[in-house]
Amino acid sequence: MKNGDSYNIGLGNCDDTIRRDASQDYEVFWNRQAESLEWFKPWTQTLEWSENHAKWFADGITNISYNALDVHQSRLAAKPAIIWEGEDGDTRTVTYEQMLHATESLAAGLESLGVKKGDRVAVYMPMIPETIMTMLACSRIGAIHTVVFSGFSAKSLAERINDSGSKILVAVNSGYRRGNRIDLARTVSYAIKETPGLAHVIMLKRDDNTIPFEYTPWSDVTRPQSRPAEQMRSIDPLFILYTSGTTGKPKGVLHGTGGYMVHIHSTFGWAFDIRDSDVYFCTADVGWVTGHSYVAYGPLLHGATQIMYEGTPDYPDAERLWRMIQKHRITILYTTPTALRMLIKYGPQAPNSYDLSSLRLLGSVGEPINPDVWRWYYDTVGGRRCPVIDTWWQTETGGMLISALPGIETVPLKPGSGTLPIPGLKVAVLDEDGNEAARNVRGYLAIKNPWPGIMLGVWGDDKRYQDTYWSRFPGWYYPGDYAIMDQDGYLWLLGRADDILKVAGHRIGTAELESCMVSQEGVAEAAVVGIPDQIKGENIVAFVVMQSTASDDNHTISKRLRGAVSDQIGPIAKPQTIHIVSALPKTRSGKIMRRLLRGLVTGEHIGDITTMEDTSVLKEIQKTIKKGS
Ligand code: WT7
Repeated sequence: MKNGDSYNIGLGNCDDTIRRDASQDYEVFWNRQAESLEWFKPWTQTLEWSENHAKWFADGITNISYNALDVHQSRLAAKPAIIWEGEDGDTRTVTYEQMLHATESLAAGLESLGVKKGDRVAVYMPMIPETIMTMLACSRIGAIHTVVFSGFSAKSLAERINDSGSKILVAVNSGYRRGNRIDLARTVSYAIKETPGLAHVIMLKRDDNTIPFEYTPWSDVTRPQSRPAEQMRSIDPLFILYTSGTTGKPKGVLHGTGGYMVHIHSTFGWAFDIRDSDVYFCTADVGWVTGHSYVAYGPLLHGATQIMYEGTPDYPDAERLWRMIQKHRITILYTTPTALRMLIKYGPQAPNSYDLSSLRLLGSVGEPINPDVWRWYYDTVGGRRCPVIDTWWQTETGGMLISALPGIETVPLKPGSGTLPIPGLKVAVLDEDGNEAARNVRGYLAIKNPWPGIMLGVWGDDKRYQDTYWSRFPGWYYPGDYAIMDQDGYLWLLGRADDILKVAGHRIGTAELESCMVSQEGVAEAAVVGIPDQIKGENIVAFVVMQSTASDDNHTISKRLRGAVSDQIGPIAKPQTIHIVSALPKTRSGKIMRRLLRGLVTGEHIGDITTMEDTSVLKEIQKTIKKGS
């Protein structure tokens, strides 16, 4: 590992007392952070912590939409909040004043359809400013938004609408990606056949394509109206965001108002050292948590200007991202290792031929960043001027928990390390038995004390909340990641330790995929593993056992199963390869040995197989892999 000392950061706003104060008393510390936001009524107690549920600023009254929009009107009304760019190069600027008016109008419109505080509103929209307005309109009136990534299938959308009990769906008829129009209305039309509790669909039409169901036009619910922000208790729910777990059913991660707001406001400021003149660009989709915390809420809480892009960073060519940085004079870029690895492929000429001198800070998120990729980001994109921060967090944590924080302190960077936990957070790496692992030895990441952005719970399933996060190591929050702590206390995040895959940064549960495949006609059993991929980080390989009566050839079966995954979950979850085999390797107690399957594909040493029931299946599987079907 190259010594990190040459990568000093620290951008001038350093307040070295922050970390010291926070380690003395994290409640007092967060109490002070919360005072930088507007509260209609202050809280009396900073934290109530019982049975693994945190109540931050519990009786404080506030509103996150108010803090994102109203508070900026006296100083920043005319400042662009969002500069949107479409894939075809179209741009559109929305100021803070316009954001507020649009949000207020929609908030009133939602109420006119009967939406009340605590009601759930599902959102199925692409990367356009109206999506953020919709989220803010919900939080303005105290409705709980549940945004469903617009690449998800009709079945996934219906499942999320039903599980959350959403009464209203706000949708857009078309999205654009890689030069194609995506017929989102069609997906909605299938989904709403399975959602008996849904009362209305609000539809924003971007073109004249016909819509095959009854809906309320966006224009009907956005007539100019004012709607003051609702008085919300800090612990009132703000949103549900579904994410894959280790069972077949995604979990509804529930976040609250005040704690989440304080966490996002603080971490956005600390990590990005945000200033009035910045032009910030995060490439995440609002359908994922990064899009919630660091596209929708973080930048607006700071009155920042951001670029919002509907499209992929390599369309129409691999220079798109560099061209955008030059054109908009972007100062802060927050993206994923997958996007970087994809762009590295095209060589340094592309970034070198654009003026990237506006950049001053670079961030990475969502999956481990290889040291080589980190260095390329630092050298070629940042011109050795810009700190590269690797930010570790999860849907469940609400916001960043491990990252260098150039806005508040100088920390030497090490390529590939997330560096240190945020102030006030005690993080450890534990061994199998829950003891702190030795330095430089791989173990399980665990967190000792609560932080303001921690999820309120799993929607409708507290048992799952307790089992998933709090039972593996009693007294610790267990995120499900492998990590190493080095001799300097730096954390190296090494990916998931459970049955969750990270494919191009997207979180995909193997159990969800397997249950989808097993539900297809003729399929007896399925096992899914993740194998390393140079660009996407991981790729999906499935092993399927067909019932003896199934008669199709392997190619037809694979095609049908890939189609089924695409239809039922979404194209991002499609396995790269499906191997049809006659049996799966199992332990004597009948557990599928996925690690062994993975080893067979990657050629790694497969380790101890003495617990295996029947080793002859291995030979057959090896043969099948070689043949490549
Ligand atoms: C999982 C959470 C972070 C918000 C977007 C993803 C992995 C995330 C890093 C990082 C290594 C990372 C972890 C984590 N992960 N950031 N900087 N380095 N791994 O949120 O979909 O809930 O996924 O992403 O495995 O548990 P998510």
